Amino acid sequence: MNSRPLIIAPSILAADFSKLGEEVASILTAGADWIHIDVMDGHFVPNISYGAPIMQSLRPHTKVPFDTHLMISPADPLLGQFAAAGADSITVHAEAGPHLDRSLQAIKALGKKAGVAINPGTPISAIENVIDRLDLILVMTVNPGFGGQSFIKAMLPKITQARALAGGRPIDIEVDGGIDHFTAEAAVRAGANVLVAGTSLFKGDHAANVKALRAAATLTA
Ligand code: DX5
Ligand code: ZN
Repeated sequence: MNSRPLIIAPSILAADFSKLGEEVASILTAGADWIHIDVMDGHFVPNISYGAPIMQSLRPHTKVPFDTHLMISPADPLLGQFAAAGADSITVHAEAGPHLDRSLQAIKALGKKAGVAINPGTPISAIENVIDRLDLILVMTVNPGFGGQSFIKAMLPKITQARALAGGRPIDIEVDGGIDHFTAEAAVRAGANVLVAGTSLFKGDHAANVKALRAAATLTA
């Protein structure tokens, strides 16, 4: 379906913050590939989560990529802070404004992988003109702001459009929101290769959850 490696990226939004270090260590021991860090500002999205200091305190404890999902507006003033705190990729929202192309250039200038996220109401055409700057496209499969929401099935064609837009470029197609072992299979069939999951990975047995998600996403042609 696609040639990019399958990546499982747990969202620590669903972790127990009172023991965040242990939660991250446990989910990585369980076989996860990246750590997905959801940053919310209470303005671009109707919720507040955490910022760069949380990433910075986790950074010495693992070498896995930190995948930073900025649900903040404007993002540009804080890009340097997240780069310095240890982000490997930084994803901004196409809707966050004011100048998407400038934001992506700034991320690349910081030496980080650049991603763009698009909300359910945003068409793929919103990112056509910046495709050559991208390392990652995040197709939101819920409206951002909260964990534990239901996967929006109508996003499946958009995942396929994102994959087609990427063409032969080395761009990861990431999905985020309501991903579990049922929805993951459909998302991967549509063209996704990075699966963000919070609730379905952190609630219950981490090893069993990661194994189930990977099995569901590993297609047998
Ligand atoms: C939503 C966040 C997601 C969220 C996913 O705004 O971007 O990363 O944590 O949570 P689940 O997997 O519970 O839908
Ligand atoms: Zn996210």
